[in-house]
Amino acid sequence: MKNNVTYSVNPSGEKFALPKKDEYEQEFIRLEKLADNARKEGKEIVVVMGIGFVGAVMAAIVADTTDENGRNSKFVIGCQRPSIRSYWKIPMLNKGVSPVKAEDPEVDEMIHRTVVEKQTLVATYNSDCLKLADCVVVDVQCDYSKQDLGNMRTGEADMAALEATMKTIGDKISPHCLVLIETTVAPGTTEFVAWPIMKKAFTKRGIDSTPLLAHSFERVMPGREYVSSIRDFWRVCSGCDNEARKRVEKFLHEVLNTKDFPLTVMDRPIESETTKIVENSYRATILAYLNEWSLFAERNGVDLIKVINAIKMRPTHDNMIFPGPGIGGYCLPKDGGLGYWAYRHILGFEDGDEIFKITPTAIDINDTRALHVAQLVRDALRNMSRYIAGSDVLLCGASYRQDVGDTRYSGSELVMRRLAEMGAEMYVHDPYVEHWYELENQDVYPAPGHSWSRFFRNQENLQEIKVQKDLPAALKGVEAMILAVPHEQYLQLNPDDIVKWAGQPIAVIDCFGILTDDAIRRYFELGCEVKALGRGHIQRIKKEVKNQSS
Ligand SMILES: NC(=O)c1ccc[n+]([C@@H]2O[C@H](COP(=O)([O-])OP(=O)(O)OC[C@H]3O[C@@H](n4cnc5c(N)ncnc54)[C@H](O)[C@@H]3O)[C@@H](O)[C@H]2O)c1
Repeated sequence: MKNNVTYSVNPSGEKFALPKKDEYEQEFIRLEKLADNARKEGKEIVVVMGIGFVGAVMAAIVADTTDENGRNSKFVIGCQRPSIRSYWKIPMLNKGVSPVKAEDPEVDEMIHRTVVEKQTLVATYNSDCLKLADCVVVDVQCDYSKQDLGNMRTGEADMAALEATMKTIGDKISPHCLVLIETTVAPGTTEFVAWPIMKKAFTKRGIDSTPLLAHSFERVMPGREYVSSIRDFWRVCSGCDNEARKRVEKFLHEVLNTKDFPLTVMDRPIESETTKIVENSYRATILAYLNEWSLFAERNGVDLIKVINAIKMRPTHDNMIFPGPGIGGYCLPKDGGLGYWAYRHILGFEDGDEIFKITPTAIDINDTRALHVAQLVRDALRNMSRYIAGSDVLLCGASYRQDVGDTRYSGSELVMRRLAEMGAEMYVHDPYVEHWYELENQDVYPAPGHSWSRFFRNQENLQEIKVQKDLPAALKGVEAMILAVPHEQYLQLNPDDIVKWAGQPIAVIDCFGILTDDAIRRYFELGCEVKALGRGHIQRIKKEVKNQSS
């Protein structure tokens, strides 16, 4: 008999059959009973739409909420669409296992506590759960998809998931339910896209009242403070009208630590939406700005790392950061794009290219900075009379920042792709990353037709890449090592060990100011070649070593 069951596979390879049509009704009956019981116990019912990186943890934080008497005050239903890519998150969460991998131990503890011990959190695929909600939190994605590498102006906001979610919510919630959009959206989305969708749905259902819609963006930071970066952190919020504003303030005071991290309430959602976009564009811009000084430094004997450290002594300038091989992460590469896109497509202005100069340039610079790393590898190998084509190159660090396993839009991915295109045999080591999905699943990840692989040739073999964990073994026989991310393990590496493990002098490329001057000197003494982003003083050290030995 033909087996037509469709499966969703979790990151460790476990298969989960997608629910069939006839299971939806039973699932709703289960949720209804749970919600009834919770309501009898005085709990508010909160539905979190989208249990991804942000939604899963936000759902657990809300489910962990207690009132002034220490009693659990919320019952949370995490609602996730049953797609092949994401359905597995539901059965995992229902077992009390976090669907997101985090370096913060509190994520696993809190999800286990709320699902298994407190029983205040469940997950479902059935969006009819919206009918049971007093409050809905929207944590679905809103991506900015770029058509070209290094030209964000041709990109567009991918509103489909958010628009579909808002329509479903409008079709199903009760009139007095508060809806809170936490997704980072193009400014204007809450009032001019989401609210009209919901109003239309209400009118169709014969509901006279106005939907209660609010916005409050996330500032979550992947890493060891994951939970704190949501719960114990300053929030900004606003509502489409006075009632929505009052309701969202009350809700956030209940679920977040607003006592220590006060809430900022804005007049209108476009102001809170713009806050998020400007905040991240500011960060992207100060990082991009250092790219030109990084090139200046490389070509003029200047160590930009020392320059930055000298400037940071001045308290007014102490938030300068060296940009590394590009910026990466989910938010900084896309958020400015949402603002640029909204100006024309939501707000109706035609002169976007005249007024937006800095934000698009910053994103374009950050998106392509990693390509320069490939040039440094090429040049270092050439100085050792080797060619990039056919050389074995080890990339140390696949994630976008130190000591996390998050690989989304990491500069390292571009380094891999460009060097693979130039014919290098690429290998990767990362203590925090198990699977590099952007490479392993490049046909479908981050979405079919959206992989960066489309901007390069010769990418097929990258699908076979395995992230290595044993650094000495990974180094055996390589001709070049790229230190791409300042993971703790890479900070204190001893040049003598590296050369011993590689079995020969190698090219060492430092992308993040990881090497001390002593280490650089020692690499040269051992016959290695060293190049680095923004560190022109290396040539001086090389000359000194050469003069000493001659
Ligand atoms: N991850 C971060 O580091 C971070 C930081 C700050 C802000 N944000 C913002 O938070 C938002 C969410 O990001 P994320 O990282 O959690 O994304 P994600 O892709 O991990 O999660 C989104 C989830 O929503 C689900 N979904 C989509 N449509 C749905 C629907 N109609 N019904 C139910 N589920 C649906 C998806 O399947 C997915 O599981 C984004 O706007 C992002 O910009 C993220």
